[in-house]
Parts: sequence; structure tokens; C-alpha cells
Amino acid sequence: MNVHNAELSPAEQLRANVSVPFSSATAMPKSVYTSEEFLAQELEHIFAKEWLCAGRADALKEPGDYLTMDIAGEPVIVLRDRDGQLRALSNVCRHRMSTLLEGRGRARAIVCPYHAWTYNLDGSLRGAPGMTLNEGFCKDQISLPSIRCVDWNGWIMVTLNPDAPEPHEHLKELDNLVGYLDMASYTETFREELNWNTNWKVLGENFMESYHLPVCHSDTIGGFVSLEKMTCPEGFPAFNYHYIFKTDDAPLTNAHPANTTLTGDQRTKTWLISVYPALFITLTPGYFWYLSLHPDGPGKVKVLYGGGLHPDYVNDPQAQENFVKVKALLDSVNDEDKGCTEKVYQGLLSKLGGPGALSHLERPNFEFAQYIASKIPG
Ligand code: FES
Ligand SMILES: [Fe+2]
Repeated sequence: MNVHNAELSPAEQLRANVSVPFSSATAMPKSVYTSEEFLAQELEHIFAKEWLCAGRADALKEPGDYLTMDIAGEPVIVLRDRDGQLRALSNVCRHRMSTLLEGRGRARAIVCPYHAWTYNLDGSLRGAPGMTLNEGFCKDQISLPSIRCVDWNGWIMVTLNPDAPEPHEHLKELDNLVGYLDMASYTETFREELNWNTNWKVLGENFMESYHLPVCHSDTIGGFVSLEKMTCPEGFPAFNYHYIFKTDDAPLTNAHPANTTLTGDQRTKTWLISVYPALFITLTPGYFWYLSLHPDGPGKVKVLYGGGLHPDYVNDPQAQENFVKVKALLDSVNDEDKGCTEKVYQGLLSKLGGPGALSHLERPNFEFAQYIASKIPG
């Protein structure tokens, strides 16, 4: 079958694309990146169904700290409530449906910007001016719908799906692999929201292969890695991963010299973890950084970009200074990735372009394509 046959729907093209062994795999067909129809399917069957990451739990430290996000078109508030629990709520007022909060901040209560209906941090309606004469209005029966939200190893995970298995269950193999680094113990030191002109999967795929590091990142980290020191084992249904070893001059990457609990390879291994669908974590014994993605049209992606330090480095008086250097390096790397992934999207829009063969270093990309294909019906 010609897997790039325009007669087939994007989902059918993708299914054909992933039905070959990895040893003869090619990149995903163009339509799964550029088609509005396919994006609508991804929103419905992936983004509205899976666990997505809203950032790090330590970014919402105090009661009333909140952030807002959109999940498949659904406005959502994530906050720390009075009891110190993370909680996610609908960000839509129960009066005439204005959205409530914007951006990030700290609030004692959630006050609608339209007519000032006011909600407690558990979503219950606290007060509503001028409503005493409506006989059907019953304040005690009104609250913002709750959305599932858990702290998984320090990551705020949110889903609109009442039936999704708990992340601790769903991702237990990942805990088995990287549990020794205790992701929950890392401290977030920066967080930014970016908008890039590429498809969300192009950026995800860029993350899940280190094949591009020596070339795309030749001006930054390219020299710290070699293609021979990259290992891409088979992944799991909920995530894929690979790991690399960098040279000793890569700053902050290896275990702190004073650390006595990490041994052997644990001291030097950099993990690149892709938690499906859209959380991408680089985890080293010294620091971490991550991207959490949400599509904003076929050719646009919203990027939450953050990172921080392992506790050994947080407690090192020089660490903040060192991390400023690492952050500057990560920003440059990110700029290079932006350039590479936006170029790919330009290529995906071309008529003459078409997907080519994958390297053995792109096994995670093939598994990601299989995952996407498994979620989209039709
Ligand atoms: S829409 Fe929120 S108070 Fe009217
Ligand atoms: Fe990169």
C-alpha cells in the first residue's frame, strides 16, 4: 500500500505508516502534522483523554497560588487550596460563563470579572451579588466542576478523563527506571511560556531523539555528546525514553561531588523521557528541564518550558550561579531546537517533501507514532 496516498485519511495513512517493523520504519506522513481534521481528532482522543502536565507542584507553594491552562479547549484552573492540596477546577463561571482567572497568581478567592460571583478555593460559590430575588438560585448548590489533578513525583498532572488510570499506576515502569533520582526532590528555578510555529509532534519528536544533537546543537551542547553514547531501548505504552552520557565538561550534568548515594552510571546518565502525549523531561543527576506542550492549531504549539536543580546543587552555595550558566545554555539549545523544528514544519507544508527512513536512534519516534495511531480511531 502507498502510505502517502492522499485518498486515505490522515489516521489511515498513519496506521499504514506504523504497521511495518521498526527496522524499515519511516517518519510519519505529512498530513498527521498539517491536517485540521487530524488535530481535531488528537484534541478529542488524546488531549481530552490523557494526563497532561501543568508544571511543577513546587511552583504552587502557598494556598491560593494558581495557574490557568486550556485542555482541548476547556479552560482550567489549577491551584493549591486552603488545605494545601492541589486541585483543578473549571475556569468557567456558573453564572453567564465568563472565564474567571487568567495567567498565574495568588488569590484568596476566585472572583468572576463580569458580575463578581465569588468562589472559594474548593470551587464552592461563596457569594453572588443581587441574586436574592431569583427563587431558583441556591448558592449552596453551585460550585465549579472539579477536574482530576494529582502530584506525580512533583509534576502536576491533570486530566479531563474521569476513567484515566492514576499516573503512579500508569507510569510505574518509569518509576522503576529513574526512581533513584527522586524527581519530586528537584526544585524548579525557572518557568516560561513560549509559542512556536511548528506542530506539537514535531517538537515532541525533536525531544525524543538525540540524533540531532551533534548537528542542530553544534554551537552549544553538540560537542558534549556522541552518537555512539546514545542508547534507545524499547519503551512502554505510556512513555518512551533514551539515555545519553555527556563528557565531563558538560556543566552540572553529573552527580554532585559530595553525593554519596548515586553510584556507577547513575552519576553520569542523562535521561530523556517522553511521557505521552506531551511531557518531555531531561533528567540528570544535577538538574532537570522539561517541555509540556499543547497544540494551538496544526502549525502552532504552546510550550511550557521549565527546569531546576537536584537538591545536592540547591544546597551548594555556587549552585545558583552555576545554574545561571546552565539556564543560558538551555535557552540557546532551545533556540536551536526552535529553528530546527520550525524548519521541519515549513518542509511539512511542501508538496515535494515526503517522509524518509528513520535511524536506529529514532526508535522513540516510531513508538510515539505507534502510540498516536493507537489513540486515533478511523
Ligand atoms: S458571568 Fe461570572 S458573574 Fe456573571
Ligand atoms: Fe534539541
